[in-house]
Amino acid sequence: MFEIGQEEIDAVAEVINAQRMFRYSDPEAGRAYACEARIKEMLGCSESLIVTSGTAALICGLVGIGVGPGDEVIVPAYTWLASAGAVLAVGAIPVLADVDETLTLDPVDFERRIGPRSKAVIPVHMAGRPADMDRIVDVAKTRGIAVLEDSCQAVGGSYKGRRLATIGDAGAFSFNVYKNISCGEGGALMTNNRQIYERALYYHDMGSAFRGHSLTEPEFLGNTYRMNEIQAAVLFVQLGRLDGILAQLRERRDWIRDAILAADAPLMLSPSADIAGDCGLHVSFLFETVEARIRFSERAAELGCKLSSPIDSGKHVYTKWSTLLERKVGVHPRMNPFLWPANQDCRIANLTADCCPRTLDLLARTTTVGVGLDQKREACEAVADSLCRAARDADAKPK
Ligand SMILES: Cc1ncc(COP(=O)(O)O)c(C=O)c1O
Repeated sequence: MFEIGQEEIDAVAEVINAQRMFRYSDPEAGRAYACEARIKEMLGCSESLIVTSGTAALICGLVGIGVGPGDEVIVPAYTWLASAGAVLAVGAIPVLADVDETLTLDPVDFERRIGPRSKAVIPVHMAGRPADMDRIVDVAKTRGIAVLEDSCQAVGGSYKGRRLATIGDAGAFSFNVYKNISCGEGGALMTNNRQIYERALYYHDMGSAFRGHSLTEPEFLGNTYRMNEIQAAVLFVQLGRLDGILAQLRERRDWIRDAILAADAPLMLSPSADIAGDCGLHVSFLFETVEARIRFSERAAELGCKLSSPIDSGKHVYTKWSTLLERKVGVHPRMNPFLWPANQDCRIANLTADCCPRTLDLLARTTTVGVGLDQKREACEAVADSLCRAARDADAKPK
């Protein structure tokens, strides 16, 4: 979905010509530092740490919050595997919760799944759709649980006027090649909490205290998730493109949605926690039965309109997380948090293929059509027209 061109080439050339690829050569003059300043200003957030991936941002966020062995983290059952993998990477145990019709964490099920060891929750703004942050933060605050927003698929999105990743205690972005802006691989941790930021800063730089990362937090050994200046140079240009891309996608999404709403076809748009803040990557439809969704999709395909159901999205569906379900974590047997004594009071046994049936049902009853960044208005309206026709035809077909 991202766009890339001459500006990024020039920015990379500048870094190479200057022979300064390491972000800490001159800590406050480099491109990584500039990205952090720019993203903080764009999103209205006091701290940002640019890292090597979205997974690294999630891990740094969990470390910053203080999650570790003996803790559970609640994760929705529909997300990329990394949301749960990051929890295991810090030695804690993921507990899965259902999504609701918006295909983001169901605040009611989130509350229901809280246990005595729940330390954090990771609401995921899946496919650019904002989760219901008011209700999630409300429950989390009442129950003393930290909120780490996985905004990896929703860079720049918002919820009721606030940018995603800045609403909870911390948030994570990914800039891999499947995202709306990209620097090949990359991520960012966002937070308004200085302690979370300083711990993450240490952690992402192998705990290098000599760089003066923190004046208050004690030093500790971390890992290495530093972004280099070549990627950061690309990212800096990409950040400048972000709001334009979002506006373009949302306009096209609305052309499709508005035409469908005006046509009064037997087609239900999936609900959204905040359609204005949704990134506009897709238009989604919810059906009463899986059979109705399939009938509709088949007819739409005959009319030249390709849809995809989230149930077919591979490792975004928890039942496909074989390594987790089979407890295959790490090469060395003792590096497996599922086996650690500290985690034996966590609800490991709850992590099974049948723990979130409602999610599977909702994913199978939903289908989506992608929105093209350069799609013309007539093309969007033609898509809407085909979908409405497919819905009428499928509805009329004998069941
Ligand atoms: C929801 C979600 N979380 C986390 C990640 C991890 O991001 P990365 O691939 O940059 O590590 C992704 C990446 O696709 C994602 O979609």
